[in-house]
Amino acid sequence: MKLLDGKLCAESLVKDISRRVAGYVDSGLRKPHMTVILVGEHAPSESYVKSKITSCKSAGFESALLRFPEQIGEAELLAKIAEINGDHATDGLIVQLPLPKHINPQNIINAIDPVKDIDGFHPTNFGRMTLGQKAFRPATAYGICKLLQFYEIPIKGKHCVVIGRSNIVGKPISIMLSNDFEIGNATVTLAHIETPRELLLDETRRADIIVVAVGIPGFITEDMVKEGVVMIDVGINRLESGKLVGDVDFDGVSEKCSWITPVPGGVGRMTVAALMVNTLMAYTDNFNLE
Ligand code: GUN
Repeated sequence: MKLLDGKLCAESLVKDISRRVAGYVDSGLRKPHMTVILVGEHAPSESYVKSKITSCKSAGFESALLRFPEQIGEAELLAKIAEINGDHATDGLIVQLPLPKHINPQNIINAIDPVKDIDGFHPTNFGRMTLGQKAFRPATAYGICKLLQFYEIPIKGKHCVVIGRSNIVGKPISIMLSNDFEIGNATVTLAHIETPRELLLDETRRADIIVVAVGIPGFITEDMVKEGVVMIDVGINRLESGKLVGDVDFDGVSEKCSWITPVPGGVGRMTVAALMVNTLMAYTDNFNLE
């Protein structure tokens, strides 16, 4: 079993980005700029946003964190987004999810200018990605592709099983792995909460690559996988003890894997790195570079 080291891969990507940014700045351009909107207090979001801001510094980007209270109304948030859409000094904008229950996340996502939508959640980007056109790709899914590419894991012709159909992970990674992309051309099964257990087991037991994003600690057990599987664990679950674990029973399953992502230090690190890749693309598009 070998580890797919997200920390190592993310650091390499961010280093490349920072070199490119230094070149742009040397030629007289301003730095790329990411704006993050955070509503309310949600401990995991605080931690994700902190790592995004830290990564911006490593990449040589400017960043701004705009905090709003839990009670902010949808109209007020939409007005703020409209203001940032019109601000030429911001290349990329993300609104950290989840939002409070009284705000409809789809209305918020739809309001972000697609050229600044570095999360790739806007229907324009999601649609373009699905059609195989140039787009911002959702960062977790894109990060997984970058990690597989970094370790030269063969994808073409493989049988991938994705478990979880969320708009931010399961749905986009199932599309990206099956599309005619450089990291794609796999045969993909998308399983979800309504997939009967027996069918799920049939699929996972013959999968070459499994991507699991269900948010349940220990969901994937040793009896569910074949020898040599590549395991991508998207779960980030905090146990009562305070320990962070994924959706895979690591100790039991890792013995059978050819490759596996650790938690932490796997997919989570890649999500942030892919967001930096998207921000650089927003910036280079903004300035018509290359
Ligand atoms: N919440 C969990 N993952 C994400 C993400 O990739 N982007 C945003 N904006 N919110 C999230």
